[in-house]
Amino acid sequence: MQIAIAGAGYVGLTTGACLCELGHTVSVVEVDPIRLERLERGESPFYEPGLTPLLNRHLGANLRVTGSLSEGLAGARVLFACVGTPPRRTGAPDLGFLRRLLTDIRQRGAAWTDGAQPVVVLKSTVPPGTNRWAQGFLGDRFAVVSNPEFLREGTAIADFFHPDRVVVGAESAAAADLVASLYDTVDAPVMMTGWEEAELVKYATNAFLALKVSFANEIAALCDGLGADAPPVLRALGLDQRIGERFLAPGPGFGGSCLPKDLAALRWKAQRTRVRLDLLPAALRANRRQRQRVIAKLGPVSGKRVAVWGLAFKAGTDDVREAASLEIIPQLLSAGAEVVAHDPEARETFARAIPAEQHPGLRLVADPWEALAGADALLILTEWPIYRSASPEAIRAALKGDLVVDARNLLDPERAAQAGLRYKGVGRRGPGT
Ligand code: UDX
Repeated sequence: MQIAIAGAGYVGLTTGACLCELGHTVSVVEVDPIRLERLERGESPFYEPGLTPLLNRHLGANLRVTGSLSEGLAGARVLFACVGTPPRRTGAPDLGFLRRLLTDIRQRGAAWTDGAQPVVVLKSTVPPGTNRWAQGFLGDRFAVVSNPEFLREGTAIADFFHPDRVVVGAESAAAADLVASLYDTVDAPVMMTGWEEAELVKYATNAFLALKVSFANEIAALCDGLGADAPPVLRALGLDQRIGERFLAPGPGFGGSCLPKDLAALRWKAQRTRVRLDLLPAALRANRRQRQRVIAKLGPVSGKRVAVWGLAFKAGTDDVREAASLEIIPQLLSAGAEVVAHDPEARETFARAIPAEQHPGLRLVADPWEALAGADALLILTEWPIYRSASPEAIRAALKGDLVVDARNLLDPERAAQAGLRYKGVGRRGPGT
């Protein structure tokens, strides 16, 4: 089937490349000239494992990238809206990009397909009620379908081909069947729902994942206070089939472009709907508190140099949106510390968010061991494999001081102590914690 995709972000581009892999013909429409130029060179504009080779396998064959919506739509049967819906200060998603796209589509009319009713799929994360609004806005020459994505950055391609479920929300059965048919060769249950139900599944999923992470962080904090070891507690918890072992790893607090945004959006929607929610605001508060717990483990930092390993919000991506580093590093600098930071992929994106020239006490380095030289303490924020495999002995030798705050529990506390380090994990029992 001929498909158009509006928006070459990690959802749009991954969806487009994977639909090509399923045998469809895809035109990706990207309005950002810099991003478009990189795409035309066969380069993914962001770090997503496996995406560049997948793009190059189909570019020039059944994948095309263009800056023109007209070109992208020509002959397409389905348009996937994968434009950004960034959060406003209130938590409300900004639907400006989506509104502009739909206005453009409405003005064009339905002529861009071969006479069949064009299907407009909202894959962007949008508040409940948006698909219904879009259908009214476009009119019944079009059919609007909700098809939320559950792609995780760093594993987006695998998540596309091996989803736990595909959700299709529509009022038109024919349009729902058409969208569901795109995933015919994907081995996963397809749930057909109404619009609001599909929109809510997306928010409820991310809200629950955020709750689970915050719960794990609070159990870890309790373990710190009790001198207990969190990993066996959380492992035993996860063995309960009703709970499940994933998303129970304590850390510096959840980040990324989705969990914080979607939690805030759901809280905002509930307020607008006059439904009082207690858990979601608590999960956001717990997340902010977790960041402060990690900072407190460093003790006084004024006049000290802190090495930071990890800027990305998680391993496997160069994305720093809502990352712990974005909140913690400025606080360390304001407290009078000097910070030397490393990340294998996210230095450039971090520097765009926090320009080093505006922060004289901040330096980004390409070698993780260079960050340790002369540092009084090491703070680990992202679970990159190169940090997990670092030897405590080598860390001790490279550091000037002896403190390691490991916010991802990558190192072994016993081995760290034997190497002469004062090791502080999150919920780790052991000498020095
Ligand atoms: C998330 C959802 O998982 C995905 O389904 C949705 O489509 C988009 O949002 P993503 O934002 O890529 O994906 O990150 P995810 O892997 O969910 O992690 C979110 C945050 O939680 C990261 O900061 C991560 O480090 C943190 N996390 C995750 C933990 O701290 N502990 C865990 O056990 C798991």
